[in-house]
Amino acid sequence: MSFTITSLGGYIHEYQKSILNPAQFWEQIAEEFFWRKRWDVALSHDFSEPRVEWFRGGKLNIVENCLDRHLFTRGDQPAIIFEPNNGTGATPEPSRTLTYRQLHSEVCRASHALARLGVQQGDRVAIYLPLIPEAIIAMLACARLGAVHSVVFGGFSPQALRERTNDCGARVLITADGAYRGEKEVALKAAADEALRGCPLVTDVLVVKRTGAEVPMMKGGPKDRRDHWWHEALASSEPTHEAVATDAEDMLFVLYTSGSTGKPKGVVHTVGGYMVYTAYTFKNVFQCRSGHGSGSSIERDIFWCTADVGWITGHSYVTYGPLLAGSTILIYEGIPTYPDPGRYWEIIDKHHVTHFYTAPTAIRALQALGNEHIEPYHLSSLRVLGSVGEPLNEDAWHWYHHHIGKERCPVVDTWWQTETGGIMIAPLAGITPTKPAHVTLPLPGVQPVIVDTNGTELVGNSVEGNLCIRFPWPGILRTTFGDHERCRQSYFSQYPGLYFTGDGAKRDENGYIRILGRVDDVINVSGHRLGTAEIENAINEHPKVLESAVVGYPHPIKGEGIYAYAIVDLTDRSADNLVREIKETVVRIIGPIARPEVVILVPGLPKTRSGKIMRRILRSLAAGDASNFGDTSTLINPEIVEQIVAAVGSMSQP
Ligand code: WTA
Repeated sequence: MSFTITSLGGYIHEYQKSILNPAQFWEQIAEEFFWRKRWDVALSHDFSEPRVEWFRGGKLNIVENCLDRHLFTRGDQPAIIFEPNNGTGATPEPSRTLTYRQLHSEVCRASHALARLGVQQGDRVAIYLPLIPEAIIAMLACARLGAVHSVVFGGFSPQALRERTNDCGARVLITADGAYRGEKEVALKAAADEALRGCPLVTDVLVVKRTGAEVPMMKGGPKDRRDHWWHEALASSEPTHEAVATDAEDMLFVLYTSGSTGKPKGVVHTVGGYMVYTAYTFKNVFQCRSGHGSGSSIERDIFWCTADVGWITGHSYVTYGPLLAGSTILIYEGIPTYPDPGRYWEIIDKHHVTHFYTAPTAIRALQALGNEHIEPYHLSSLRVLGSVGEPLNEDAWHWYHHHIGKERCPVVDTWWQTETGGIMIAPLAGITPTKPAHVTLPLPGVQPVIVDTNGTELVGNSVEGNLCIRFPWPGILRTTFGDHERCRQSYFSQYPGLYFTGDGAKRDENGYIRILGRVDDVINVSGHRLGTAEIENAINEHPKVLESAVVGYPHPIKGEGIYAYAIVDLTDRSADNLVREIKETVVRIIGPIARPEVVILVPGLPKTRSGKIMRRILRSLAAGDASNFGDTSTLINPEIVEQIVAAVGSMSQP
C-alpha cells in the first residue's frame, strides 16, 4: 500500500498534510481500497452532537477488502497461523495455517450458514469464542453479510454475556463447546446456555466443536432447533459468496467497554472509516511487510498480537488491520505460562515471528518469572516489539527492549482506546526515535490537545493535564449502541468541541507525549478496563453488603489492582468467609478479570455533605499511604477515616 511512511521527514510531511486538509488527506488513503461506489463527501461532522461521517455515500464491503482483493496476488500466502494451547510438549496438537484463499472459503461458507439462520444486513450477532480461527471467521462472516458483530470476551461471565447480548439485540450467538486455557478446559457452551436463559431474542446458536466435550444441543425456541453445529452448517455451504455492499457509515460492530458510570456501553464503529484507519495505522506503526505473490523477493513478516478478539486490540490488530494489509497473523489460544513461562518465546522461534505486540501486564509478569525462561530461545526473527493497553513503565520497557528485542527491535508503545478504533499516538517502528514510557508523537490525522480541568488548552511543551482530541479521524466511535446521548455525555460534554479521552497526559520538553493513566473512575487491570461503579454494583449484589466503594491501586504486575471497601452485615458470617464470598460474587457477575484483590470490611465510607464518596481518601489508603489525605473538612463523617485506617490495618490480605 502506497501510504506507508518510510522516514521521519516523511512522517512530518504527512502529518502536516493531514492537519492542513484532513478530508483530502484521508481521501487519498481511502483511494487504495476497493469501493463498489465512491463516496460523495469525505467528511461531514459536528463534534458537539457528536455526528461524524466519513466517506458518506460510499459503498463497500470490508471483507472484500480483507480477503477477496488479495486472492489474485496472495491467495496462497498464509493469512492465519493458529498455535493451539497444547502446541508443545510430548503430544502436541499441530499448529494450523489458513491461506488467504482458505480463509476466504471458510468465511463465505460461514456467511451462508448465518444467512440460512435468517441473519440479514444490520442484524446483530453475538460471538463468544476462544481465540481460534473460527473467531476471526465468524467476525468476517458477519461483516460480509453487512451484519453487526458483538464479540464478548470468552472470560466474561454468563451474566455479562447476557447483558451484552440483550443490549445489542442479537438474534444469533456463535460459541464453542469448550475452550482450552493452560491446564484448564473451560465449559464455554454451558456458560452460553446459562446466559441464554435470559436472552429471549436469541433464536439460533452456532456451536464450534473445539474440545469435543459432551454438550447438550438444545431444541426449543420459536424454531424446532436452537443449536446447530458450526462444522455441519459450514460443510453444507458453498465456498463462494457474494458480499453485501454496505454504506461506509453502516455499523460494522458493537464492542462493550466500561466507563466511569453505569453498565458497559456498546461502542459502535462503522465500516468505511474504521477500515481506512485500522489499515493505515497498522501499516505505518508496525511497518509490517506483506510479501507479494508467490516467489516474490519481498519479505513477508509474521505479525503476532497476543490480544483476544474480545477486546478492541483483537478487532483492529488481530483481525481487520493485518488482513486489510494482506499480512500474516499468528494467533495463540493459550496463556503465556503454559506449559512453562517460556511459551511465548518458544512460539516466536517456532513460527519465526517478526512482530510481537502485547500488553505491559504480560511483559511485567514474564519479567518477574525470570530470564532463565528466555535463555533457551534465539528470538532472532523478531524485528518490532509493541505494547498496548496501559502505561509501559520504564523498567519494563528496558527489560522488553534488552531481553526480548536484544536491543535490535524498536519498541512501539501505542496509545489508543476502544473508542478511537485504532492507534492514535505511537512511534512508527524504526522511524520515530523512541523514549521509554513515552508514546511519543501523534499519527497523521490525530490532533491531541492537553487541557486543564477548566478546559483551557495547555499549549507548548512541558505541560500536564487531560488528554483530548480536537478533530475527527476516520476511526472515531460514532455512537454508543441504543443511547446516543450517553455517547455525547461520556466523551463530548466535558470540554465543548473536543473528544475527551479520560486519560491524563504530559507533553515533555521535546513534545513527546506520556500517558499518565485514567483520570476518571475507570480502573485498568492488566490492560482491561473496568468501571468502579460496575464492580460496586456487582459487590452490592451480595445480600450481606449494604454499600461499597471500589478504587484502583498500583499493582506491580497488573498495573492496577482492585481494592474494595464494603459496609456489611456480619450477623451470621465470619469476616473471612464474607470477604471470600464478595470476591466470588464479582467473579460470577462480571468474570475473573474483575476479582477484587482486596476487600476491606468497614463501618462506613467517607462522604461529603452531598453524599458523594470521597474516593481520594480511599485511593491513598489503598496505595498504602495513610499519612496524607488532603483536605477532609468537607466530610460529614470525618471520624470514619480513622476507623477505615484501622480496618485496613487489621485486614491485610495478600
Ligand atoms: C489505556 C485499548 C498508556 C488508557 C487499546 C486508555 C494506555 C485505555 C496505552 C483504553 C498506552 C491504552 N499507554 N495507557 N500505550 N494504551 N492505554 O479501550 O488508559 O481497552 O484510555 O483500549 O487503556 O483501553 P481500551
